Amino acid sequence: MTRVGVLTVSDRAASGQYEDRSGPAIQEMIAERMAAQVVEYSVVPDEFDAVRNILITWSDERKLDLVFTTGGTGFAPRDLTPEATKSVIEREAPGLRGTVRRDSRLITPHAMLSRAVAGIRGHTLIVNLPGSPKATRENLDSILPALPHAMELLLDLPGAAAGHRATVAP
Ligand code: MTE
Repeated sequence: MTRVGVLTVSDRAASGQYEDRSGPAIQEMIAERMAAQVVEYSVVPDEFDAVRNILITWSDERKLDLVFTTGGTGFAPRDLTPEATKSVIEREAPGLRGTVRRDSRLITPHAMLSRAVAGIRGHTLIVNLPGSPKATRENLDSILPALPHAMELLLDLPGAAAGHRATVAP
């Protein structure tokens, strides 16, 4: 069972100004569509160190398989989730975000305003998602077909066991 962390990055959600709806949306989609369990969930403000520290703890100490952040990927002055993520990943995974960009530009031109990144730290895959529940769901929908095999590869299973199978494109 893939162990997942969901990190909501939002000043307003962290201060209680509004309820986080994107974190729960991710939890719901993951539960429905992957053999995965959300074992960590946190809401932090748009602070570089807060995001960075939790990503390090969840990767190195909690050893989660997969971490999603939601929010803070746009152009607003306090949007710094991609920078905090880049500061912790060791290997980039540009194909995930490239696929999201391709799919999302057919939905809204605003998709090009997301600076989200994805990458690997140790055995943990970290993926940035945008902040709105709608955008988060659309982004996840694009990458979900590749995530089970990504998890197998991160566990370093031998080729056959890892099931190098083609997944039909959505
Ligand atoms: N991607 C999809 N698929 N659908 C959307 O509605 N919204 C965009 C974009 N990506 C959107 C999307 C908008 S309006 C912004 S500003 C950026 O994601 C960054 O969002 P964030 O700052 O909440 O992370």
